[in-house]
Amino acid sequence: MNRIKSGVYGLNSLLDGGIVANSSTVVIGTAGAGKTTFALQYIMRGMETGEDGVFISLDENQQQILREAEDMGFKNIRNFIERGKLVFIDASGEQFGAFIKQELPSFVDKWEGVKSRIVIDPLTPVLWALPEKYEQREVISFLIKELRKVGTVLCTLEEHSSYGGVYGAETEIPMYLADSVIHLDYNVTGEDVERKLRVLKCRSSRHSEKAVDYQIIGGLGVILHHDIPHPGKKMEIDEETRSVLEEKFSGLPISVRNRVSNVFGNLEESELPKDDLIRLAADIVEEYKHIEAPAKKRPTKKTKKKGTKAKEGGDDE
Ligand SMILES: Nc1ncnc2c1ncn2[C@@H]1O[C@H](COP(=O)(O)OP(=O)(O)OP(=O)(O)O)[C@@H](O)[C@H]1O
Ligand SMILES: [Mg+2]
Repeated sequence: MNRIKSGVYGLNSLLDGGIVANSSTVVIGTAGAGKTTFALQYIMRGMETGEDGVFISLDENQQQILREAEDMGFKNIRNFIERGKLVFIDASGEQFGAFIKQELPSFVDKWEGVKSRIVIDPLTPVLWALPEKYEQREVISFLIKELRKVGTVLCTLEEHSSYGGVYGAETEIPMYLADSVIHLDYNVTGEDVERKLRVLKCRSSRHSEKAVDYQIIGGLGVILHHDIPHPGKKMEIDEETRSVLEEKFSGLPISVRNRVSNVFGNLEESELPKDDLIRLAADIVEEYKHIEAPAKKRPTKKTKKKGTKAKEGGDDE
């Protein structure tokens, strides 16, 4: 699977290496959680290595976003605009809603190449411009489908706790439709600020389900703190554990034994804590314990006439 790097340091190992190219991701969080920062990092990361970017801002105008980006340390963002590598669109939710319905397909048709990153920050005003739920679903689904033809889409989404948090009324449709959902959880209690990032969903990929601490640092943006290993690092199983596993698996039906041994032989450290191997093996053995060894085939009678088909108890595998 072709993956692109997210630009958020520490995030790729949570996503099995990066964001799947031409997929759609929703980043959801409350006010000030770091959504715009995340989106800017994502788009800047692409442009740093030759990809194009389209930043659709539905909240702040171009000058505000550029100033914030420069304050955050992304000093060369104006350069990318001047060189035509970054296209900036600012619109209201209503204007963008009308654009999706009327002009998006021809916009996509004229697009050259597919190596671009597209940001919509935030998607929320489009939802507000569409009062009917079925219409929200139609329009957002169409938007994602069209944009994925030409690039990898990242939308931010406001989390309003009065609507019930992450799974509130106005977030559920984009969360269902997106391929991946990343939650930026930001809580202030007294003098303490707690920031946690969690990957809530990642279609057709394994991903870490842990909530990890994050921080926002000028010059870097959102960075994560965790010790989840990078993908690709095979788990090292010592000899003793290996022979315990072999012994446990010896009673499994052959096809299960082959499948499970193959999985255990290719496990990566990021997938499963090593200490859980033996327990998991015991659960697998338990699952198949009741299955008896297949009955031996009955010998066919030599007396049977040639050309007559024997129908015996349906064991014609
Ligand atoms: N230069 C900086 N250094 C460190 N932290 C910063 C810097 N600039 C902004 N921040 C932090 O980032 C937060 C805002 O991030 P951002 O604008 O990305 O959030 P947001 O989720 O998009 O907010 P909103 O919902 O208002 O659009 C600030 O509240 C501040 O805590
Ligand atoms: Mg913002």
